[in-house]
Amino acid sequence: MAHDPSSGQVVDRNLALELVRVTEAAALAASRWMGRGDKNAADGAAVEAMRRAFDTVAITGTVVIGEGEMDEAPMLYIGEKVGLYAKAGGGPEVDIAVDPLEGTSLTAKGGPNAMAVVALAERGGFLHAPDIYMEKLAIGPGLPAGVVHIDEAPEKNLRELAKAKKVDISDLVVCLLDRDRHKDKIKACRAAGARIVLIPDGDVSGVVQVSQPETGVDLYLGSGGAPEGVLAAAALRCIGGQMQGKLLFEDDSQIARAREMGVTDPNRVYHLEDMARGDVMFAATGVTTGPMLKGVRRYHGGAFTHSIVMRSKSGTVRFVEGHHNFALKPSAFVA
Ligand code: FBP
Repeated sequence: MAHDPSSGQVVDRNLALELVRVTEAAALAASRWMGRGDKNAADGAAVEAMRRAFDTVAITGTVVIGEGEMDEAPMLYIGEKVGLYAKAGGGPEVDIAVDPLEGTSLTAKGGPNAMAVVALAERGGFLHAPDIYMEKLAIGPGLPAGVVHIDEAPEKNLRELAKAKKVDISDLVVCLLDRDRHKDKIKACRAAGARIVLIPDGDVSGVVQVSQPETGVDLYLGSGGAPEGVLAAAALRCIGGQMQGKLLFEDDSQIARAREMGVTDPNRVYHLEDMARGDVMFAATGVTTGPMLKGVRRYHGGAFTHSIVMRSKSGTVRFVEGHHNFALKPSAFVA
């Protein structure tokens, strides 16, 4: 379906599949650096490939969650225009959230679960999250609204969640980033009888696991990057589930910066729709294998990629296997 800019319809459903090309390109580029001990090189390769791949997507996109401010990031900085129509204007105007390499250290060490991530929303659809920490809590779909709350103690949330799922607390699995700052939460979850999965990095996929029954994760808890929080919210808007987030400010300058980005109440609890509103699309491609996606596999003349792509409007979740023939691929997509 061709986009008619005068129609007011912002997002063409085919864009979701276009986004996969963008995450595939970033994952292919990052995969070259897998296990080579250089996380900045891996990240740089992913950023550059993603930036180039965006040039083929028929949008005027504005990066709202990106690689930092214009003066600190050469590409995919906040405010940068991307897409086929970025220079001339035209096509649907959309906001873009990117994490070209979610799990830079994971990639450098050849660890599990690194991926390239992109989300797209109508203009104004994403929370403009500053690059600070966010406290996060997430549960899967099909549960009553408000059954858990970010301000409640883990024991209470586990009790309520177990009741709603008609299981014992000992049946529940909580996922957290393996960080010292989480030791009290980990202790509280264990004391309540829950089981725990500690992940080394990568809380976008950590959060999304609550909505994938096959992962066995029931609750995600703990703090991580706020931009990653918005990307996780975009994914849950598509796949289902509940998420709450609270920005964690370390000083007044962070609060001032957040105010400039439109955050009026620093203590606000953000729910899913506050972080990713309207028609939202999400795509991710595995760089290294994790619970959600297989990593890039390279072979003579090509490579295999595994991606997820989903859209909030339809609720369709697709897994896409790509078999890339480097002899035939346009140069923008060959890593
Ligand atoms: P990078 O890809 O930037 O390395 O981020 C990985 C990550 O684990 C995120 O998924 C998470 O939100 C954040 O780092 C947590 O930050 P920290 O390592 O400071 O706890």
